[in-house]
Amino acid sequence: MPHIKRLDIEALRKDFPALQQQHQGQPVIFMDGPGGAQVANSTLQAMEGYLGRYNSNLGGAFFSSQITTDLMSKARYYAATLVNAEHPENMAFGANMTSLTFSLSRAIAREWKAGDEVVVTRLDHYANVSSWQQAAQDKGCIVHQIDVEPETCDLNYQQLASVINEKTKLVAVTYASNTTGTIVDVKRVTELAHKVGAKVFVDAVHYAPHHLIDAQELRCDFLVCSAYKFFGPHVGMMYIHPEWLHRLEPYKVEPAINIGPGRYETGTQSFEALSGMVACIEHLAALGDEELSLREKLEQSFGAYSAHEQQLSEVFLQHLNKMPEVTCYGHTNLESISQRTPTFALKIKGVDSGEMAKFLAKKNICVWSGHFYAIGLLEQLNCSEDGGLLRVGLMHYNTENEIAVFFDELKLGIKELT
Ligand SMILES: Cc1ncc(COP(=O)(O)O)c(C=O)c1O
Repeated sequence: MPHIKRLDIEALRKDFPALQQQHQGQPVIFMDGPGGAQVANSTLQAMEGYLGRYNSNLGGAFFSSQITTDLMSKARYYAATLVNAEHPENMAFGANMTSLTFSLSRAIAREWKAGDEVVVTRLDHYANVSSWQQAAQDKGCIVHQIDVEPETCDLNYQQLASVINEKTKLVAVTYASNTTGTIVDVKRVTELAHKVGAKVFVDAVHYAPHHLIDAQELRCDFLVCSAYKFFGPHVGMMYIHPEWLHRLEPYKVEPAINIGPGRYETGTQSFEALSGMVACIEHLAALGDEELSLREKLEQSFGAYSAHEQQLSEVFLQHLNKMPEVTCYGHTNLESISQRTPTFALKIKGVDSGEMAKFLAKKNICVWSGHFYAIGLLEQLNCSEDGGLLRVGLMHYNTENEIAVFFDELKLGIKELT
């Protein structure tokens, strides 16, 4: 395991043009990472480079088509390395996580029959709930939705263990909540599900920008991410376990290719986005020592990102502890900080979250309010009223100084809005 490096935050921020800009004459603070991260220069250049010179399609004899075909292979290799898939062939691409999940749910549900059971969770974005609920409804299957522990927003693993049974066909679970930042013990979920032969589908969209994924270690059957959440363009990627690559029957246009990951892809891919995704994974790996493999470089780089993010979480929670009028859902103890990403779901006593988001927007502080499609979670926490939650999502390009400015403005906002 390569040693962990320290993040040179000022140098890193210079790579991101969005972080250098001013809006209406004032600096901007991006704390909206869980909705979409900012993008480095090299990623922008890669996209422009592809579109500007080689815009084409797969399989032609001429140079730009051959470059496009090579790009596709390279994209599979980079995506596979990012999630530690067995082979580049185990990675498929699509418009986004939601589209990939809907189309896979149709392929998987072909094998379901009335009375089969499916498990989803309240911690999940509904892209990983509705898709399975609707496929289950089409087939007359039963859906169980697992609650969270109210104190920590951890998944209720006991409830999960109690509902999984011989009829369970699939467990769909998030790797980390896009609302509270809670990290799920996916290995524990796969162990429970595989005992009864159920497949496990993991939504790693929120986890991917914060920690390095290892699909083989998780032993999951499918795993999805979206590059725009990990500093890349808008494109989705899906890991398919070797066991399923050729066993399932995805819906396909005739006579489109029906071998390898292309079976799970529809239409023409966004090659410019794949080009950007490759560059963004390269940028993510850039802190790694020269002699290392791409995967090792990613390990070393993510070590630095995670350490910096943990420090940001500590600082954020220390500020928060001085504000009893603000409730933060999820892990708030410094001891359990490794069980969360730096994404904070806040509710301020007597303040509408939407109004607070607007107040902060006037100060160029970008945060989201609402439900973030985590409908089940907001329902259980009873937080849907008054603009839902205020979500502050930090990324490794954020700084302690930005957190201090955020809290100063939050306090002013509370004064103005109460
Ligand atoms: C945890 C999580 N899952 C899934 C999605 C949906 O991803 P996409 O926009 O790629 O369909 C999001 C988007 O916000 C998300 O945060």
